[in-house]
Amino acid sequence: MQFFLDTANIDEIKKYAKWGMIDGITTNPSLMAKEGVSLEKRIKEIAAVIDGPISSEVISTDLKGMIEEGKKMSKWHPNVYIKVPMTPNGLMACKALRSEGINVNVTLIFSASQAILAAKAGATFVSPFIGRLDDISEDGMSLIADIMQIFENYEFETKVLVASVRHPRHVVDSMLIGADICTMPETVFSKLIQHPLTDIGVERFLSDWKNAKKK
Ligand code: G3P
Repeated sequence: MQFFLDTANIDEIKKYAKWGMIDGITTNPSLMAKEGVSLEKRIKEIAAVIDGPISSEVISTDLKGMIEEGKKMSKWHPNVYIKVPMTPNGLMACKALRSEGINVNVTLIFSASQAILAAKAGATFVSPFIGRLDDISEDGMSLIADIMQIFENYEFETKVLVASVRHPRHVVDSMLIGADICTMPETVFSKLIQHPLTDIGVERFLSDWKNAKKK
């Protein structure tokens, strides 16, 4: 089970990398747009901090453009995983890039049938967006369970990277199902550790210790 941070913000990445629990990073064009820095520069900065998969998404929508972008980005660092959208061109680009040994993360997965196609195209990761499904009154977590079952039935090597994670319960439920990876914003990652009883407990231990020393 792996934790990825879903961010392109280098300060956030450096802050949480210190905890030693971040196994990789996912970025997307929306996250990159907030940063005001070139994609290449930021991916290389991230690779200097995190020793694990770093997803970098193509902007082209045509097949040739996707493949060219993917190949170019894959040369930035061996840990770069090319993110392509779940479209016919994205699937063909996935197959072409994988045939050259380049890792691919097929993103914007909202159904089990899409995940099957991505796995058949040899995707290294599929990224089902569970929060966006919950937003439209669907059950994102049941999609994860379905994909996990299908991949097990057919022994697909494609890993399930749970994305669009909104709260710690999403993380725990993904892990109960056995999903391979959960990517989350720092707002969710930072909440995984929090519990009011822990805070109260630490405070009580310290005050008991100080009071005892006074005696
Ligand atoms: O990285 C893609 C995904 O995690 C986006 O999440 O919150 O914009 O649906 P969200």
